[in-house]
Amino acid sequence: PKRYSITLLPGDGIGPEVISVAKNVLKLAGSLEGIEFSFQEMPMGGAAFDLTGSPLPEETLLAAQKADAVLLGAIGGYKWDKNEKHLKPETGLLQLREGLKVFANLRPATVLPQLVDSSTLKKDVAEGVDLMVVRELTGGIYFGKPRGFGTNEKGDEMGFNTEVYATYEIDRIARVAFEIARKRRGQLCSVDKANVLEALQFTVGSNSILEGTAAKQAMMRSSKILTCYSFMSCFCRDEASMLWRKRVTAVAADYPDVELSHMYVDNAAMQLVRYPKQFDTIVTNNIFGDILSDEASMITGSIGMLPSASLGESGPGLFEPIHGSAPDIAGQDKANPLATILSAAMLLKYGLGEANAAQRIENAVLDTLNKGFRTGDIYSAGNKLVGCKEMGEEVLKSVDSPVPAT
Ligand code: NAD
Ligand code: IPM
Ligand code: MN
Repeated sequence: PKRYSITLLPGDGIGPEVISVAKNVLKLAGSLEGIEFSFQEMPMGGAAFDLTGSPLPEETLLAAQKADAVLLGAIGGYKWDKNEKHLKPETGLLQLREGLKVFANLRPATVLPQLVDSSTLKKDVAEGVDLMVVRELTGGIYFGKPRGFGTNEKGDEMGFNTEVYATYEIDRIARVAFEIARKRRGQLCSVDKANVLEALQFTVGSNSILEGTAAKQAMMRSSKILTCYSFMSCFCRDEASMLWRKRVTAVAADYPDVELSHMYVDNAAMQLVRYPKQFDTIVTNNIFGDILSDEASMITGSIGMLPSASLGESGPGLFEPIHGSAPDIAGQDKANPLATILSAAMLLKYGLGEANAAQRIENAVLDTLNKGFRTGDIYSAGNKLVGCKEMGEEVLKSVDSPVPAT
């Protein structure tokens, strides 16, 4: 049989509940396709902090880097919210994404016919929605420097973060998005805030970020200076989210078969609930992608339905539901495991190239919904209310005795 090693990171809250269910589904779907998995479970997030003092222990990152793919539940919770920044579960997650160099985060939002009634939007608005958010995942304001705390002239405490993108970061996420759009309906909408934000890039002469003396000299010549840091790097004003728009437009030249449009993020947030069927593929930065994908999830019925795949140039992909640790329902067997189960399907498809095994999982999820099983978040009258475990068992049954896909 083919063998793959999978690092499982259950994490916190409902993380371990949904991971234990998804692991069984992955195992069964694989075995029916002649695939054998070795699973290695590692501590991550708040659980890892309690155990080792770090939200991403070195052994966990190493195990993830060595695996063929990584499946993560969720991290975070009230207990660790007051941790110092570098000890927060969320910081561990960002370090994991950075450590795996997974810059492209694919978040599909598909309204399944079975769940049209679970959407908070009207049936005719939600019906047939099938979009993909391609979120840049290792750059932007999540990672940009300078960041930190300081005080202003009045002595007020300040917190500051920097939205920064370099050309190569925009170009590579744009390429991923164009490739995906090309295989879908050929439409790519780039979402930015080009009317306000630059994304800082110095372009006197070249597109490089200058350092040291060169930076200082360029600064003195230019009127477009934004700021200069003590470490002597300098970033200056240019057309940047303006740069974002400029680069996405430049990359479009290589994809004449894809129709590119641009939208400001505030309008995009509105259009998503006004007429979501207008979207095919959306490409956007880290923070806008975070927000818009949560919004898109609700069109489908629940955030408990949305999977994701995070991919880099090479190395293992990271697969996780887009939802968090849901502390309000953790430990009560109420979580919807389908987002994680569908993330396992993405792991098979995008991470391992095992499309048939992935299809088995997707079919089983549809079959389980056809049979009327629903967790609380997607429940509507006339259906069968089940918990996380039972939902998982039903999906397993459907993987085992497949019905033709509808
Ligand atoms: P959340 O996604 O955890 O929960 C938001 C709401 O959605 C809650 O009411 C929750 O019960 C519900 N929900 C989420 N997943 C569900 C599921 N599978 N089934 C049913 N209902 C579900 O977001 P939050 O409350 O803002 O954050 C809680 C914690 O999770 C925070 O510490 C946050 O930082 C963290 N978080 C982690 C991730 C991640 O690990 N990737 C993502 C988002 C938030
Ligand atoms: C997500 C989460 C994370 C993010 C947090 C927990 C760091 O919201 O995966 O969507 O903002 O990326
Ligand atoms: Mn999020």
